[in-house]
Amino acid sequence: MSELNKIALKIISNGKGILAADESNGTMTKRLKAVNVNSTAENRLLFREILLSSECMKDCIGGVILYDETINQTTSFGKSIPDLISSSGAVPGIKVDTGAKVLANSSEEKITEGLDNLRDRLKKYYQLGARFTKWRGVFTISDNYPTKLAINSNAHALARYSALVQESGMVPIVEPELLMDGEHTSDVCFSKTSEVIQKCFEELILHKVDLSGVILKPNMILSGNQSKEKISSQEVSKKTLECLKNSVPSEVPGIAFLSGGQSELEATENLDLINKNNNTNFIMTYSFGRALQQSALKLWSKNIKDLKTTQRTFNHRAKMCTLAAQGKWANELENK
Ligand code: G3H
Repeated sequence: MSELNKIALKIISNGKGILAADESNGTMTKRLKAVNVNSTAENRLLFREILLSSECMKDCIGGVILYDETINQTTSFGKSIPDLISSSGAVPGIKVDTGAKVLANSSEEKITEGLDNLRDRLKKYYQLGARFTKWRGVFTISDNYPTKLAINSNAHALARYSALVQESGMVPIVEPELLMDGEHTSDVCFSKTSEVIQKCFEELILHKVDLSGVILKPNMILSGNQSKEKISSQEVSKKTLECLKNSVPSEVPGIAFLSGGQSELEATENLDLINKNNNTNFIMTYSFGRALQQSALKLWSKNIKDLKTTQRTFNHRAKMCTLAAQGKWANELENK
């Protein structure tokens, strides 16, 4: 077993999942504004240190993705954020892309940037304690999108990123996200997601990336949020499994889904059925941002000093997601 494969398995085994707390300052400001909290560095740290000191960190969370500001912060009780994460047995990770920018000659699509100086930035993050990283390519779905240009250029960037990350001794999370915005059906989401994922692995292989030391972070197969089609969680799980079975090489140890704007309950139920129906050898878990933090953030905003209620809410959500990652979740457990 390679070192990278060991790290990947440590993050995603035994029902553990990933807390995606890597919102950029811009995104975090949006989230905090929505609940009427000032987006200062202190408040961003306070919310995150409350989550990272929660009990569920030990049994449910295998890895935490951080943003540059947070990985450099020290908690109010004097521990660095990476040390706080490691002390619970989880692995600190870091988002290393620098965001999605307009793709030249396809003005409505995006290319994710961040390859410049990446090798040097990775060294710094490794020294700070990071052992895995994240890079998100983002695609819109419509009749004409994503174009081959957007698919090929983002897949190429994801592969170059992954090779550099492995060279520096860390596990790359490869995140090609096809957004749920739009009127498309789940079948269109299925075919476009398959095309994107297949192209990503073609490029990863070309760049000699060790697939046993990679975690894929895809979207689930859903119909668009403006679509007339409403599909059940059973159908979501079956289509998602079929897509991944056909598109992901078997060496990849695991898949950690993003929640992508689904509610906490939807994302949990879909993940649970994916695991109940799992006919692949892949570990299927979560790497949720909003679907792990939404309720906790809402409660915290009512009284930012109230650590207990915030932690109780986060513990519950993480526990539900971890049950779903083992196919052991049931709706009744939500109210216990
Ligand atoms: O890149 C996206 C985040 O890491 C996951 O966030 O679960 O809210 O989509 P989400």
